[in-house]
Amino acid sequence: MEEKLKKLKCLLAEIANLKAANAVLGWDQLVNMPGGATEDRGEQIAALEHIMHAKVTSDEIGKLLDELAVGARQIDPESDEACLIRVAKRDYEKQTKVPAEFVTEMARVSTVAQSVWEKAKNHSDFELFRPHLEKLVGLRRQYADFFKPWDHVYDPLLDDFEPGMKTAEVQAIFNALRPKQVELIKAISQTKQVERSFLFLDYPENGQLAFGEKVISKFGYDWNHGRQDKSAHPFTTSFGLNDVRITTRFNSNYLPTAMFGTMHECGHALYELGIDKKFNRSPLADGASMAVHESQSCMWENLIGRSKPFWKHFFPMLQEIFPSQLGNVDVDTFYEGVNAVEPSLIRVEADEATYNLHIMLRLEMEIALMEGSLSAKDAPAAWNAKFKDYLGIVSPDDAKGILQDVHWSFGGFGYFPTYALGNLVSAQLWERMNKDIPNLEEQVEKAQFSEILGWLRKNLHVYGAKFEPQELVKKVTGSKITPEPYIHYLEYKFKAIYNL
Ligand code: CO
Repeated sequence: MEEKLKKLKCLLAEIANLKAANAVLGWDQLVNMPGGATEDRGEQIAALEHIMHAKVTSDEIGKLLDELAVGARQIDPESDEACLIRVAKRDYEKQTKVPAEFVTEMARVSTVAQSVWEKAKNHSDFELFRPHLEKLVGLRRQYADFFKPWDHVYDPLLDDFEPGMKTAEVQAIFNALRPKQVELIKAISQTKQVERSFLFLDYPENGQLAFGEKVISKFGYDWNHGRQDKSAHPFTTSFGLNDVRITTRFNSNYLPTAMFGTMHECGHALYELGIDKKFNRSPLADGASMAVHESQSCMWENLIGRSKPFWKHFFPMLQEIFPSQLGNVDVDTFYEGVNAVEPSLIRVEADEATYNLHIMLRLEMEIALMEGSLSAKDAPAAWNAKFKDYLGIVSPDDAKGILQDVHWSFGGFGYFPTYALGNLVSAQLWERMNKDIPNLEEQVEKAQFSEILGWLRKNLHVYGAKFEPQELVKKVTGSKITPEPYIHYLEYKFKAIYNL
């Protein structure tokens, strides 16, 4: 077994190196590359992907995994070796169960669909996009069939982002969460709203950049193993465990965009930088799932970055950078302003109290489309009805309604629920951490984050992708993903802000 494991690790390291090289090409494209190079870069990335795919699905790896599976059953299932074999086998099966012709067809259809979606969004014309959505739904059903047997047609799609998680589990969680959130935002909408006009003043970019860098340096972001650049859409990317980079974007007339965006991406980066270095260049050098990843960005952005103790420390610093904009605002008003709740049409601009509702309606629609209980033709009406139900508002057009997100334009079903699950996990971890670190708030108020980061590293980050998300969350918090801590957090926070 020793020899074979060594051979497998060697092959997997080669794939990881190619993946990192490909990520550098992708990062460069979004951060530095001149527009005229798009076509060439596409070719370069496709060439690398072709090589990677051949290596990932090679008979050599398949045979090794089969042979190792026998030995793996005799060792501790939580050992690094057993986990590596299991994760590598899962990746191998995911890649080999889907025929190459299908992958090509999916790529072809989604490329066309994406460009049509852009046009449809610009003209707010859902009918233009409808036949493409129908095709994509058909293809995703076909994709699900490659992984039969399953309990629900949506399971294989969800599994791509949340390994091992079932549609029924997510539905049960969201069914408990939805009425509580709907009730909360109804109560908020009927009371006096908070002041936040000061967030929309002119905030020069260099001041925003300086503040963001100060904050994430305090969080513990290691500039020797990372950097921050500008891009149209913020993201985090990793080229192995020693180089995890983030990007941000600035809106000179809206302070929160870069400020919280930077904290969010830093949270993702701190996770990857905290993974045990012995997993470098292996499939374990990754987050456990999208939801667990999102729990880390949510924690630094919201539970810490939108908290009162945080602003007690950082607001004077921000006032110093922007004296004319914030000199006359006090810390309580600022805290309330950055936490303002307002049902809005656009998901990416939604606040903490309404965000999950945007997700839930998308998930319900994805499931209904996949089941066939909703047709693409009826989708806009279903969207608007759910929106009215959950958020109390209706979009004036499809551009700000069903056509707003890019995800469906490439058949990216299964991704949305991970955002909301991440919120829930962040609150579960926070609750657990508060038990282990009794003066946690005091530490945040002093901008001392080393114990918090240390706790996250020791209890969560270090494992990388060793465990499935439900297993990992249970290991750390004592229970699987559950909505109660998040509901408590929301109610406690927003009842205080809105005097409910
Ligand atoms: Co994120």
